[in-house]
Amino acid sequence: MGSPAPPPLAGWCHAGVDKAGRRFSLYLCGAGEGNAALRDLYDAFEPKGCTLCLPPLNDDRRTQWLEGLLEQGVNVLALADGIVVGHATVMGTENEGVGEYLVFVRPEYQNCGFGTALSEAVVEIARALGYRWLWVLVEGRNRRAIHVGRKVGFQMEGPVAAEREMLLDLASGPV
Ligand SMILES: CC(C)(COP(=O)(O)OP(=O)(O)OC[C@H]1O[C@@H](n2cnc3c(N)ncnc32)[C@H](O)[C@@H]1OP(=O)(O)O)[C@@H](O)C(=O)NCCC(=O)NCCS
Repeated sequence: MGSPAPPPLAGWCHAGVDKAGRRFSLYLCGAGEGNAALRDLYDAFEPKGCTLCLPPLNDDRRTQWLEGLLEQGVNVLALADGIVVGHATVMGTENEGVGEYLVFVRPEYQNCGFGTALSEAVVEIARALGYRWLWVLVEGRNRRAIHVGRKVGFQMEGPVAAEREMLLDLASGPV
């Protein structure tokens, strides 16, 4: 294990069953184990750059991106079948009380409930960390991400455009 979980999250983990009946667990990762786990996940992720140019196509940029997530974010991994099948982050922004959220699920494991489980976990974690809002930028054509975001409590913000902001009010009660 790398750096310890922030105090409000000590011991945090979840177990569940996906839509295909597979057992999975969600756990927080620190910089040590997280580095290898995220690298495996995102090196194998195809197509790279599929959403807002993420995960970065370029190896060096992908490494920098992952280092930034591990340094600045609280990171949750989903483990099933003995591999990391998904990852979500919440990290601070320049706006006080606003956390940025990000979620990726290994393509062959999408549509099985992992994105929803990871997103629900991030909402719970963001609340425990004292954030007031969660924010995410999605492409307007990314209907699946928008559907999952709405399911866990995000609402669309701002004008209809190619990229849409979604915001979740963490004071408005559990998902
Ligand atoms: C977005 C993403 C994280 C969702 O993960 P997932 O594991 O597939 O999500 P789930 O299986 O929990 O839920 C998918 C939901 O979308 C629905 N869905 C699938 N395709 C859809 C579409 N084209 N339009 C609307 N809803 C759709 C499914 O029916 C399911 O909803 P339900 O559980 O209410 O039936 C995943 O697709 C992904 O990694 N995408 C690339 C990265 C990304 O776009 N991240 C979001 C922005 S950071």
